[in-house]
Amino acid sequence: MEKEFKFNFEVIDGFEKLQEEDQKLFNTAMDARRKAYAPYSNFLVGCAILLENGEIISGNNQENAAYPSGLCAERTAIFWASANFPNVGIKKLFVIGAPKDAVSFIAIPPCGACRQAILEYESRQNTDVEISFASLEGDIIKTKSIRNLLPFSFDSSML
Ligand code: THU
Repeated sequence: MEKEFKFNFEVIDGFEKLQEEDQKLFNTAMDARRKAYAPYSNFLVGCAILLENGEIISGNNQENAAYPSGLCAERTAIFWASANFPNVGIKKLFVIGAPKDAVSFIAIPPCGACRQAILEYESRQNTDVEISFASLEGDIIKTKSIRNLLPFSFDSSML
């Protein structure tokens, strides 16, 4: 029997069409991206997280000469959020990534490992985390839950 997995996502074509809160997250992710430490890949990624208490947290990718020791922007940001605000829910996560000198680039989604890490916190807080990823120009792809990007996900309910 063949089955289908469907999910909804929104495409917003341009920064000016974003709601004010998302414009703020876009700008925060852009600022974080500029401060990324990515001398090996020269691919800079910034992430902004909005918490239920209105706090905005940011992070960027941190690379290492021993390559696998580095960390993506999304996990840098979400681990910091959980370390410092363990009891505050995460509402939104916004990501922007592009090669260092790019002036124009497509919206890049979170990698598989980051999706798994985000899922952990979505499950923990039992409410959705809205995920947005944006091109450098401000074109946005947005979906209501990380589960939409991680079908057949493995979580603590299976342990
Ligand atoms: N990277 C992120 O920070 N987030 C992602 O979701 C994809 C990849 C980083 C890891 C590495 O520093 C660089 O981008 C190239 O893979």
